[in-house]
Amino acid sequence: MQRSKIKDIFNRGQAGGDVLVQGWVKTRRSSKSVTFIQISDGSTLQDLQIVVDEDNPGHEKAASLTTGCSVSVEGVLVESPGQGQKYEVQARSLEVLGGSDPETYPLQKKRHSPEFLREIAHLRPRTNTFGAMARVRNSMAYAIHTFFQDRGFQFIQTPIITASDAEGAGSMFRVTTLDLNDLPKNGSQVKDEEDFFGKPAFLTVSGQLEAEIFALALSDVYTFGPTFRAENSNTSRHLAEFWMVEPEVAFCQLDGLAELAEDFLKHLSGHVLENCREDIEFFNKWHDDTTIATLEGIANSQFERITYTEAIELLQKSGENFEYPVSWGTDLQSEHERYLTEKKIQKPVIVTDYPKGIKRIYMRVNDDGETVRAMDVLVPRIGELIGGSQREERRDVLEDRMTEAGISHDEYSWYLDLRSYGTVPHSGFGLGFERTVQFVTGVSNIRDVIPFPRTPKSAEF
Ligand code: 4AD
Ligand code: MG
Repeated sequence: MQRSKIKDIFNRGQAGGDVLVQGWVKTRRSSKSVTFIQISDGSTLQDLQIVVDEDNPGHEKAASLTTGCSVSVEGVLVESPGQGQKYEVQARSLEVLGGSDPETYPLQKKRHSPEFLREIAHLRPRTNTFGAMARVRNSMAYAIHTFFQDRGFQFIQTPIITASDAEGAGSMFRVTTLDLNDLPKNGSQVKDEEDFFGKPAFLTVSGQLEAEIFALALSDVYTFGPTFRAENSNTSRHLAEFWMVEPEVAFCQLDGLAELAEDFLKHLSGHVLENCREDIEFFNKWHDDTTIATLEGIANSQFERITYTEAIELLQKSGENFEYPVSWGTDLQSEHERYLTEKKIQKPVIVTDYPKGIKRIYMRVNDDGETVRAMDVLVPRIGELIGGSQREERRDVLEDRMTEAGISHDEYSWYLDLRSYGTVPHSGFGLGFERTVQFVTGVSNIRDVIPFPRTPKSAEF
């Protein structure tokens, strides 16, 4: 007989039919005449109840099962007289595939702290929270691809190892095969030419620059992959390894990009509400009871659009006691972003036209000469979810900015070339995947929405 997934049994099982189910024991209750076992196979949040009667030859085995054991059960699907479940399985035969020592198995039937669960990241996928997290991540990854594919975007795989620094120096992990205990040196300088690539190479912080190359040939492209930042920020919203979605669109200015970002977030919110209902209800119940309301709000709201200058005015008039002072020309801190989207405007806000001094040199300079066509999308509970811009497509302006920033024109000659041969207005953004998972689930720490978090001083598993 073929194995049935528990999800399929609840969705389209038929009472009276024979089934084979396999999974891990969550709990067991035994009396003299009957044993009830709850098993999970991760296909859904719901456990399936297995009933083993005393006259069943497997009853003794069943009565000795403990949490974490793996079992294979054949039996008949029957409507459950008990509350909370539609069906249960009346076991005919039960096989124990793997035991689980109750003295040492760390997952017991109680709530464990997220900190403890991070230490057992090899077992935490078996908890309700991590099962739900994995299913929501999966479903969102699928929705990301269908959103762009339905709009005719091409998925481009940009390199993970790169020699170019898209986001400014200081936060890149170097990739090297040099023996760090015995570096080849020219005086006090490391001989980079003896390294694997003949020059310094790094893990990418963003696929943007390479995506631009493809946008200027295929018009509408996106990347979706891991990115790496060696920022020493131990916060609930920063990882050293995280996934980013980066669309890059030719013949598109900032307004078009803002529209794309709004449509994209609405699509993702709607998708999880529709396709991950059970898991989202679980998060709403156990993690943040505003999760569903926030998601429904996204689908029905018009995102607010304000300029950075207007944002500064709102913050200065707010009467709030911010830790970081607010003044035109300084970057918005997380507390400022959250005030704007949570308290003042109470829905997603797209902030545009930041001072050029605090943004990257690839962003298009406005006619005022002071601001650039940057855009950040801020959402309640998270703050910045998306960062993007219209790109500087004018070679002379870009060259001036590179000179000011001390960036070698030679090293980025290919980036400048794109502005010499058929340059066009183009725009793109990056959406942090884990922050988006945090946003749709209400899980407060980013370490708990990725299977294996990498943060300063921690790269376990
Ligand atoms: O704003 P960022 O730095 O933008 C870029 O990298 C652009 N090159 C993207 C583009 O235009 N194609 O990063 C984009 C998003 C942020 O808004 C945030 O959601 C997420 O990536 N992010 C992080 N997420 C987790 N941990 C970190 N350390 C992150 N740094 C950025
Ligand atoms: Mg940013």
